[in-house]
Amino acid sequence: MKKLFVTGLVSLLIISCSKKENPSVESSSDATDVSTPAPSNLTGEQIIETLDCSGCHSPSERMIGPSYKEIAEKYSEKDIEMLASKIIEGGSGNWGSVPMQPHSQVSKEDAKKMVEYILSQKK
Ligand code: HEC
Repeated sequence: MKKLFVTGLVSLLIISCSKKENPSVESSSDATDVSTPAPSNLTGEQIIETLDCSGCHSPSERMIGPSYKEIAEKYSEKDIEMLASKIIEGGSGNWGSVPMQPHSQVSKEDAKKMVEYILSQKK
């Protein structure tokens, strides 16, 4: 009588937890001031091209956000400051329920240049 015994091989994996104490606490010497980004020497149109604006805005067609033409027709030169802040801080409620996310990496000077370019689109 032949009996086949299936022998299961049990391999024991000894997992050793090697505790490594890492005392290197990085000192927070981050000198970069993110609250005041440096202005670029580009034109408003060029700045828009380097950013994500075109993903939601186009010069004359409404996409996720209003077209530059629509914005230009709704606002005037006196709104430059306010619109520049909107670009930096984000905004919602003026065109619909979709909000525009903030662009905190943009300097106020650059934001104003972009607004000036956008407002020039009505001509
Ligand atoms: C994720 C999509 C998205 C991106 C990216 C985006 N916008 Fe907008 N933008 C919107 C939406 C949506 C609105 C309308 C917000 C509202 O209803 O108040 C808007 C509104 C605006 C307005 C008008 C604000 C107002 O109060 O009427 C300006 C000016 C503007 N965007 C400029 C820009 C510029 C410049 C950039 C690039 C730096 C940009 N947007 C990137 C979606 C976007």
